[in-house]
Amino acid sequence: MRIFSGIQPTGQKHLGNYIGAIRQYVEGQDKGDPAIYCVVDLHAITVPYDPQRLRSNVYDTAAILIAAGLDPSRCILFRQSDVREHTELTWLLSSVTAHGDLNRMTQFKDKSAKQRELVSAGLYFYPVLMAADILAYRADMVPVGDDQRQHLELARDVAERFNERFGEVLTVPDFTIPEVGARIMDLQDPTSKMSTTAASDAGVVRVLDPPRTIEKRVKSAVTDSGAEVRRAPDKPGVTNLIEILSVVRGSTPEEVEAEFDGQGYGTFKGAVAEAVVEYLAPVRERYEALRGDEAKLEQTLLDGAERARTIAAEVLADVRDAMGVGPAA
Ligand code: TYM
Repeated sequence: MRIFSGIQPTGQKHLGNYIGAIRQYVEGQDKGDPAIYCVVDLHAITVPYDPQRLRSNVYDTAAILIAAGLDPSRCILFRQSDVREHTELTWLLSSVTAHGDLNRMTQFKDKSAKQRELVSAGLYFYPVLMAADILAYRADMVPVGDDQRQHLELARDVAERFNERFGEVLTVPDFTIPEVGARIMDLQDPTSKMSTTAASDAGVVRVLDPPRTIEKRVKSAVTDSGAEVRRAPDKPGVTNLIEILSVVRGSTPEEVEAEFDGQGYGTFKGAVAEAVVEYLAPVRERYEALRGDEAKLEQTLLDGAERARTIAAEVLADVRDAMGVGPAA
């Protein structure tokens, strides 16, 4: 089974990214044949960004992934822009992507509404580049968090439309979204997902935050009226914390509810804070050591790109041939 996933190099990855996605990447690396993980710098340039920081953000994200347990000898880890097949395939796929489908993308609507100056065409094309990332490897399985569902459905539609029009060239990818933790919510506003672009940092726990910060943010998380530790639609704050604790402990939400039955929010939040600190501490420690050696990170990404390119180049040759682009194969 070929596994592929991508993550944006926005240096400050948070607990939502970790629980919703990075955890699945690590689990996938021994199931994947191969498992391919990509730091998507070309997606990051679709909104305003600092060119000076983009490269260093790529290293930050790569170091977080390795610190979390990805082993570049057991998976392929690379930087998107190093494999130019992604951009070429984006254009080729654009001719089987429905304009109306791109208009319906909720992430585009949300992100474009936040732009002050320019809503770039790149932001609009973002889902096509994402489809290209996946389809360039004929990935069977794509681990993601819940917010990527619509993008994955689009990638499947694009592959299907391509195959109908040009023959069975591409693999229609499945995707996996974790049962618990697919949508970690902002601790201050538990009706919004935890996000890098949150208006305030207070509800976001970042993977590299020092223990004191994590403790403070979790302990001041917004809970709901009442005092019962149980999941319910009208208790989004408590539900979120129950999910977080069950994932970081490797237990079920039911077990967490049973354990904290009748104990009140204070005790519960203290336990969540402690567990999250413990969960992230080893990642942060390993990160510090890895991030110091930028030359090694760069070499790891280049080696990964070389291996990725071998696969993508073959798929691109098939795509070009099927589409009648370039000389006959
Ligand atoms: P990105 O970098 O925003 O997020 C990386 C992964 O983290 C998941 N995630 C969450 N999971 C649970 N709770 C949250 N609050 C939360 N926030 C984010 C995301 O679902 C994602 O899996 N467009 C993608 C990157 C991408 C990609 C791809 C993914 C580019 N090409 C190809 C899969 C396949 C993105 O912006 O992820």
